[in-house]
Amino acid sequence: MTNKLVYFIGNWKMFGDFGSYKIINKINQYAHRSKNLKKRIIFCIPSTLIYFFNKKIRSKFISLGAQNCHYHSNFGPFTGSINAPMLKKAGAKYIILGHSENRLEGETNKLIKKKIISTLNQKLNVIFCIGETLKEKRNKKTYSVLRKQIKDSLDKKFNFNKIILAYEPVWSIGSNKIPKINELKNIITFIKMEFKKEFKTKKNPKILYGGSVNPKNISTFSSISNLDGFLIGGSSQSSKKFIDIIKNYYK
Ligand code: PGA
Repeated sequence: MTNKLVYFIGNWKMFGDFGSYKIINKINQYAHRSKNLKKRIIFCIPSTLIYFFNKKIRSKFISLGAQNCHYHSNFGPFTGSINAPMLKKAGAKYIILGHSENRLEGETNKLIKKKIISTLNQKLNVIFCIGETLKEKRNKKTYSVLRKQIKDSLDKKFNFNKIILAYEPVWSIGSNKIPKINELKNIITFIKMEFKKEFKTKKNPKILYGGSVNPKNISTFSSISNLDGFLIGGSSQSSKKFIDIIKNYYK
């Protein structure tokens, strides 16, 4: 069994209502029972639920996060938007940024960088998503896409202790397809190397894998020693699936 800290992060996307804290409560009970396992559990939930869930759950084992924010740090004329300070006040400790579902809506690397700056200014943690589309993969562009996403959205001035990278190939999200383990190992190694080269640091960044992670396929990922955890979408909406993912990872 690995002795390193492993992240299990749920990304609820547009899911959940006020009663759904019960899902996280069950996971909290499991987290308590399994506190000998060196893991960190975070749930990135809809912004409308953060404050309420924080009051309901009150767990030292589970942190809450948001799934996006506006880049602007003050109040302003941005209809429908929520900024990092607002999310912090609601109780978020993490913000997912650069998720491919938001890139698809037009988020650019440059815009994501502004959001990262705003989130770091609040001393919140960033879960920074990168990944190639199927077309880019077929055209053998995976490495160049990842390099550009890292280069254009991160900066050597950033506090890298507050940034977790999540490699999420767009074609694997919600599709039940996962990368070949060898391919994934190489990509994780590449991201770590590229990061260290670009920002002239010796520090290894934390890197998660995301995309169709479920209780059945999680054990295949356990062999990737340089992976720091998982960003889990669909399977994080069920307490049983989420708990089984953790259990099977450590089996
Ligand atoms: P999935 O989503 O686990 O449902 O594939 C992962 C994500 O989008 O973060």
